Amino acid sequence: MPDRAQKVSVQVRVNGKLHSRVVEPRCLLLEFLREDLELTGTHIGCDTTYCGACTVLMNGAAVKSCTVFAVQADGAEITTVEGLERDGELHPIQKAFGDCYGLQCGYCTPGLMLSALQLLKDNLSPNQKQIRWEYLPVHRLSEHFQSD
Ligand code: FES
Repeated sequence: MPDRAQKVSVQVRVNGKLHSRVVEPRCLLLEFLREDLELTGTHIGCDTTYCGACTVLMNGAAVKSCTVFAVQADGAEITTVEGLERDGELHPIQKAFGDCYGLQCGYCTPGLMLSALQLLKDNLSPNQKQIRWEYLPVHRLSEHFQSD
């Protein structure tokens, strides 16, 4: 078992660019992205793995980066909100959020966009129930309180 203070080398490809860093084993992927790589588009909301504001794609699958250690992402390919646009052009999901006023305060929007990408990868025509129950945990919480 490694000493808590012992640092570990990680190599992670983020938005197509390979990054090598030495991190503490307890370093979260969220911290790695925001603090080591200065990719601050990934936000921390609840810190209890519920809100999804910190969602990124890891090897093409949506993960909450507050529940993944940076060492677990060693060798992985990560996509953050900064990696969505191409050559100055918004990704269609970014454009759709803007066109449909899906931004609200904007704090969790990056996580929502990446969750939506995962949703559409799995199901191109999701119904409202699938969207609410399978991909947007915040709605599950609000519906829980409305039903009480
Ligand atoms: S910060 Fe809320 S799920 Fe990660």
